[in-house]
Amino acid sequence: MDNLEKIVSAALEQFSRIHGAAELEQAKARFLGKAGALSDLLKGLGKLPAEERREAGSRINAAKDRLEAALAERREALARAQLDARLAQEAVDVTLPGRGAGRGRLHPLTRTQDRIEAIFRSIGFDIADGPEIETDWYNFTALNNPENHPARSMQDTFYVDQKDASGRPLLLRTHTSPMQVRYARMHEPPLKVIAPGRTYRVDSDATHSPMFHQVEGLWVDEDISFADLKGVYTDFLRRFFETEELEVRFRPSFFPFTEPSVEIDMAFGAGPNQNQWLEISGAGQVHPAVIRNFGLDPEQYIGFAFGSGIERLAMLRYGIHDLRLFYDGDLRFLQQFP
Ligand code: DAH
Repeated sequence: MDNLEKIVSAALEQFSRIHGAAELEQAKARFLGKAGALSDLLKGLGKLPAEERREAGSRINAAKDRLEAALAERREALARAQLDARLAQEAVDVTLPGRGAGRGRLHPLTRTQDRIEAIFRSIGFDIADGPEIETDWYNFTALNNPENHPARSMQDTFYVDQKDASGRPLLLRTHTSPMQVRYARMHEPPLKVIAPGRTYRVDSDATHSPMFHQVEGLWVDEDISFADLKGVYTDFLRRFFETEELEVRFRPSFFPFTEPSVEIDMAFGAGPNQNQWLEISGAGQVHPAVIRNFGLDPEQYIGFAFGSGIERLAMLRYGIHDLRLFYDGDLRFLQQFP
């Protein structure tokens, strides 16, 4: 039975050196398991003379209890150590300096849009907002776009997996121009409004993004002429860029919803790059068919509309060459706009 003492002290010694829970369970099996050292001794009891059997049996059971108790204690110690380690690791040092919540700022495009709104508001324009998911009718048909116009193709327009009341697929508006019709149908003339917002086209490179911003302008009354368009828009550009020196060019063009139509270019650049022209807006006199879709009589009402790219205006104002910078979310870029 000396053996028993040896087994117990070997077991206690091993348990105390173990640091992992799995290892501890393996050690338990070695001593207390079915094929463990103590079980072997118990099996040997049968060979002992009857008078020794009782005492030996109770000694073995006492040893077993001791080992079980030692195991439980060790298990608990290991769990406690693990918890302590975790607490130490997750401890918050409240004396460290704070990270500080940096003050945010407006995105350059938001600032540009605010600026455009302020200028037009100051000369009596209303500001309207409308849906980015648009019907085919408002986006194309009402604006005198023929049924087979290429702008309607899947290559240029994002369609939505949903149809409008007349069974035509809905789409992401390709321009802010549908707001002309929406606004006109909800207001009495004179109509004098700008509608800035997001627009979408299947297009992506340094000067095109699938999502971009436009601002639509509309002024319709009984006597609004092309001269008013030139005056209002040139004045807007001078105020937007804060210079009287600006050169603006109205170049004949075509849009289905205006007649006559122009593209408005602005001279920019310095030094050897001087006098480059950049197109910043489409515009024109609102087509009689569109006036009719406003619910108005084209014999009585006349006016102009324009649609300008907000990114273009921001790029020119801040000297940015790649439009994608607006959308990268890179703080090194964004922080340059205080
Ligand atoms: N909607 C046109 C576009 O996205 C821009 C435009 C041109 C708007 C002429 C107008 C306009 O209101 O009169 O290309």
